[in-house]
Amino acid sequence: MKINGTLFRTIWPTADNVAVEIIDQTKLPHIFTTLRLNTMRDAERAIRDMQVRGAPLIGVTAAYGVALAMRDQASDAALAEACSVLLAARPTAVNLRWGVEKMRAVLVPLAAGERAAASWKEAARIADEDVAINASIGKHGSDIIRTIHQKKNATVNILTHCNAGWLATVDWGTALAPVYTAFDAGIPLHVWVDETRPRNQGASLTAWELGRHGVPHTVIVDNAGGHLMQHGMVDMAIVGTDRVTARGDVCNKIGTYLKALAAHDNGVPFYVALPTPTIDWTLQDGVKEIPIEERAEEEVTHIAGLCDDGQVRTVQVTPQGSRAANYGFDVTPARLVTGLITERGVVAANAEAMRVLMTSGR
Ligand code: MRU
Repeated sequence: MKINGTLFRTIWPTADNVAVEIIDQTKLPHIFTTLRLNTMRDAERAIRDMQVRGAPLIGVTAAYGVALAMRDQASDAALAEACSVLLAARPTAVNLRWGVEKMRAVLVPLAAGERAAASWKEAARIADEDVAINASIGKHGSDIIRTIHQKKNATVNILTHCNAGWLATVDWGTALAPVYTAFDAGIPLHVWVDETRPRNQGASLTAWELGRHGVPHTVIVDNAGGHLMQHGMVDMAIVGTDRVTARGDVCNKIGTYLKALAAHDNGVPFYVALPTPTIDWTLQDGVKEIPIEERAEEEVTHIAGLCDDGQVRTVQVTPQGSRAANYGFDVTPARLVTGLITERGVVAANAEAMRVLMTSGR
């Protein structure tokens, strides 16, 4: 995606393959700045502190984290240590495990002396694969938007939650890839952006990237979606996901489940966009089996924003002494999902349809 005319990905290696650069997402939307990751521990910290976030980007950052470790020390022990540190950085997105396992599979059979070069090559391949996958999700998802537009013959209103745009991936995004593809094809659309408390990825990141691309959008508080749906102001919802089980249960940013319930009650199609590496084939019941990240209370009790003097400051919004709970994700049961938009096509959220999708050679 372009920022002020310059083409950016969210992560890229330095020209000499000794370090990695990222866009620091904790500074957006008020400051656009990049950050250099010099070590595997830097990559782990960037994932944990959410300087990079979004399931696919976490996976790619972890892959580059392994490459950073191999640059310094490429023994079996160093490889095992890097994989285990990176895997522990955030628990919910299965793409993290996917990225690390891809690296391990390539590196384990090699001699230590061959691992550094191979790891940079594999991490770059994984990053490129993510971009290609998301472009394909964009094509399949934009066909749905086009069909709604043909029926409605007016602007298509799309609701999204959190940030599943290009900032959450290497490029394009998952939930927003269909939006960008449809918008670029001239289909009139407008996006309702859930602010997504507590970290406000919708208000800060989704609104920012839609604005940079010129896509009409409106930020709403998290509780507004049901009202909009009751009044016919939402034609479809598209969200991303951090993990989908083999039977189609969808884990995504906290609050997604409530949007899916409201969509179901109002007959609004509820789509989930995902690269197929986000499917965890080892799990069935998402509510019981997916580990849900719990983060610091301060993310709920405090909020950051731009002050009149141009400085970004953090303020407390709760009374001193009130405790806060901060569950990062929830699970939407498959029965509430209209369809899964993948790079292989759109598929029903059920075990048989998903199995056929993966074996159909598409
Ligand atoms: O906690 P985050 O910001 O990493 O959560 C991100 C989401 O919930 C996204 O919707 C999900 O990762 C899909 S990313 C394309």
